[in-house]
Amino acid sequence: MSSFDLNGKTIAITGASSGFGHHFAGVLADAGAKVILGARRTDKLKERVEEIKAAGGEAVACPLDVRDSASVQAFFDAAEDEFGAINVLVNNAGIESGAKTYLMIDEDDWDNVLDTNLKSVWMMSKAFTERVIKHEVAGGNIINISSLTDTRTIKGQFPYAVSKGGVTRMTEVMALEAARYGIRVNALAPGYILTDVSRILLESEAAPTFRKAIPLRRFGDFEDLDGPLLMLASDSSAYMTGSVIRIDGGHAVQSLTM
Ligand SMILES: NC(=O)c1ccc[n+]([C@@H]2O[C@H](COP(=O)([O-])OP(=O)(O)OC[C@H]3O[C@@H](n4cnc5c(N)ncnc54)[C@H](OP(=O)(O)O)[C@@H]3O)[C@@H](O)[C@H]2O)c1
Repeated sequence: MSSFDLNGKTIAITGASSGFGHHFAGVLADAGAKVILGARRTDKLKERVEEIKAAGGEAVACPLDVRDSASVQAFFDAAEDEFGAINVLVNNAGIESGAKTYLMIDEDDWDNVLDTNLKSVWMMSKAFTERVIKHEVAGGNIINISSLTDTRTIKGQFPYAVSKGGVTRMTEVMALEAARYGIRVNALAPGYILTDVSRILLESEAAPTFRKAIPLRRFGDFEDLDGPLLMLASDSSAYMTGSVIRIDGGHAVQSLTM
């Protein structure tokens, strides 16, 4: 059991069918939250829900395509039918476009990455905020998953890095605008952790050299995100809004002379 108490919290997590979101659902449920898992691959969501229930947690799977406003509304409707009003939203769904520069991508790449990683955060947060207001939810809370690439990057991470720059900026602007509804908005900005999003880089020939650029000399593990996630999801961070927490082994402060 975590030292952060999430009893009484109902938390929706986008992109919960794999990677971070799949892990987050278990961590948040272990801390006492009711969790709603959203993504397109509902078979994977259902498997994860069964694992969480078997461990004594409360969870439900709801289909979600974060690029589609009708799907976003249907997700919240289904979640509320199951668990009532939602307190916390984790905007985690995201994709990469492959190792492509701005010259290499086409319009479909741009639209797909920006719609999935950036526009979705606005659409999900807007729908969440409308429901926080409607149901008079106290302590609304949005956690966005940004990235180290919001400010630092390498060649070939366009438009992913552009989208994450937008997620960090959106976190700050939304924090300002959401405060009047009692909603806090913060972000996690992880460095590199092996998942389908980062596989193309972390399993490439360049991986050992890349790892040397991280002051702590290792890529991250899912568990490295647990403390910051639980803190943001809990009332321990009640006076935090507009913050972006880096979890990157010091990668962002790498020496300029490397
Ligand atoms: N791994 C890293 O090193 C790293 C570092 C910094 C930030 N991040 C960020 O962490 C987040 C999670 O990524 P990950 O690394 O865990 O990768 P992942 O394992 O590929 O997970 C991505 C998740 O996003 C979901 N998703 C993609 N498109 C979606 C859509 N249109 N609608 C709903 N869900 C969608 C996927 O589910 P379905 O395909 O089933 O829909 C999947 O569950 C992303 O925002 C990523 O940018 C990752």
